[in-house]
Amino acid sequence: MYSIITGTGRYLPERILTNFDLEKMVDTTDEWIRTRSGIERRHLSAEGQTTSDLCVEAAKNAMDAAGVGPDDIDFITVGTTTPDRVFPNTGVLVQEKLGIHGCAAFSVEAACTGFIYALSIADKYVRAGDAGCALVIGAERLSGMVDWTDRDTCVLFGDGAGAVILKPSEEPGIVSTHLHADGKYKDLLYFPSGISDKFEQLKAGNDFIRMKGNEVFKVAVRTLGRIVEETLAKNQLEKSDIDWLIPHQANMRIIQATARKLGMPMDRVIQTVKDHGNTSAASVPMALDVAVRDGRIQRGDTLLLEAFGGGFTWGSALIKY
Ligand code: UT7
Repeated sequence: MYSIITGTGRYLPERILTNFDLEKMVDTTDEWIRTRSGIERRHLSAEGQTTSDLCVEAAKNAMDAAGVGPDDIDFITVGTTTPDRVFPNTGVLVQEKLGIHGCAAFSVEAACTGFIYALSIADKYVRAGDAGCALVIGAERLSGMVDWTDRDTCVLFGDGAGAVILKPSEEPGIVSTHLHADGKYKDLLYFPSGISDKFEQLKAGNDFIRMKGNEVFKVAVRTLGRIVEETLAKNQLEKSDIDWLIPHQANMRIIQATARKLGMPMDRVIQTVKDHGNTSAASVPMALDVAVRDGRIQRGDTLLLEAFGGGFTWGSALIKY
């Protein structure tokens, strides 16, 4: 038994912030942001629009594409690092907003790798016969945790959500998933406070994402190269067997380095970083949805999804679409 993706969806909030808008906010230039990161614009949530709101719109699109309704869904998981509340978890809030009752619903915290982690867990449940129709989402409202006066970080991030529906299938499907983490890098990319650590700092409301960008960059390039090799080796595949690379959209130069490692021309790499910025857990499922909907990804294609983020966490999924 395998799990197979039967529908994809995404949602981007309406408001767009361009590099030129950012030039008016911090000491930066469109040219610097484009050449260093590949980003030109990003979407930002409206006042009061939460991560679960973004999830619900992406989920509805994925459910429509898969031809399923709320009564069909029996498993919900959301990869996010920007939950609406500490609890109930974002999966439960999405469940309630979709009018679904009773099924397992939870969120997974793995920063930018959150969707790959959530997909891997859902895949195991569907394969085992314990879920018949899983809703898997990657979503972030990062705009709320960005310091809009810090040019090192504020030019990079955006909001959005991507979703897939997984169903059982005798044919693959999700062929393999690979998850990793190493907390020794916890101080290179992080949010400084939480509920059980520095709660007073959190309540004061002036904590923001912190990142040592160029150190993260170097580890990301190395690590993503390794996970690509691990995924190919596990499945006894050649680089040329991969039809599409769907990478985490953090930085165009990181994406190019991974593509080089795979020997893939850039026209086989799904690139959304220019228009979405870095949307953390939302980036991979949104990129997948873009390429499914514009017809580039076809049934039977072999896809390699990969992500890397705070923790560090990293992971990949090999998919026969
Ligand atoms: O999603 C999870 C994983 N995250 C990532 O993978 C992000 C990884 N890192 C990156 O994408 C890149 O490191 C950045 C895009 C964040 C930065 O690019 P970089 O080529 O590594 O630049 P840098 O941090 O080494 O900074 C180069 C210079 C510095 O000035 P000096 O020290 O050379 O005078 C920065 O102060 O660029 C300066 N700088 C800026 N200049 C204009 C930093 N941010 C900006 C800015 N505008 N927004």
